[in-house]
Amino acid sequence: MKIVTILCQKGGVGKTTFTVNLGKILSNRGFKTLIIDTDPQGNVSTYLNFNKDEENIINSTDILEKNYKKKIGFSSENLYIIPSNKSIMKHNDEKIIGGPKLTGVKEFLYSYEFDIVIIDTPPTISSLTQEALAISDYYLIPAKPEFLAIEGVSQAMAFAKKTISIINNADPIFLGVALNQVDTRRASFKDFEKELNFLLSDKMFNSKISQLTEIADSPFYSKTVLDFKEHSKAKIEFLEFSNEFIERVGL
Ligand SMILES: Nc1ncnc2c1ncn2[C@@H]1O[C@H](COP(=O)(O)OP(=O)(O)OP(=O)(O)O)[C@@H](O)[C@H]1O
Ligand SMILES: [Mg+2]
Repeated sequence: MKIVTILCQKGGVGKTTFTVNLGKILSNRGFKTLIIDTDPQGNVSTYLNFNKDEENIINSTDILEKNYKKKIGFSSENLYIIPSNKSIMKHNDEKIIGGPKLTGVKEFLYSYEFDIVIIDTPPTISSLTQEALAISDYYLIPAKPEFLAIEGVSQAMAFAKKTISIINNADPIFLGVALNQVDTRRASFKDFEKELNFLLSDKMFNSKISQLTEIADSPFYSKTVLDFKEHSKAKIEFLEFSNEFIERVGL
């Protein structure tokens, strides 16, 4: 079982879009996949048309409180979900105090024999993201290729490094930065890409996701890229990204 956190304190960069589409593609390829949402907004559930307030399903507040009695939510073949709702706000501090609360969840997850667990996080510098990092093997940062992205990526990397240094036994590997909402027609794109490449070298994913209206509309229709037409650009790009992800994680 590999656990991957998707993080960036900047909002709207594509954390949930990556979590959901990657989760859907990996489950479709036969990997037993779990998505854990730790964002009080609960967007993963919206994207997957799941009821985040379902009482009989374990949610992310339950796992923070070590309440493992309920069953894990089922989304589609091989795809499971631990949703989040606003009840998780009571665990949302500025920093982890007294050590992470999530560590016990790993044993619970082992019993389900997941191949891959993907954790979506909120757009804040908060203990909820630190909880996710505390149990992760890897972390991935999505970024938009625009002026403030470089700063956003450096802040996310610094936050992850600091978290890892203060939590015992947490040592997730930086998987890399994935560019999202790329618009190659913008003259500035090449400059930002060059600068990020210089900063990150092999930590930049080769595959990128373009700015596409079908992705922008997908949460509204509760669709993932797998629901798109065979030759849709969004589908092709996410399948390519997933191949690179599988290779980097060693799935
Ligand atoms: N490649 C893309 N092309 C077009 N729209 C996109 C793309 N990726 C994401 N979006 C849209 O941008 C918005 C933000 O995406 P998403 O919810 O994945 O970001 P996020 O980082 O999870 O946001 P938050 O920080 O609020 O959790 C959504 O409406 C989504 O549909
Ligand atoms: Mg999100």
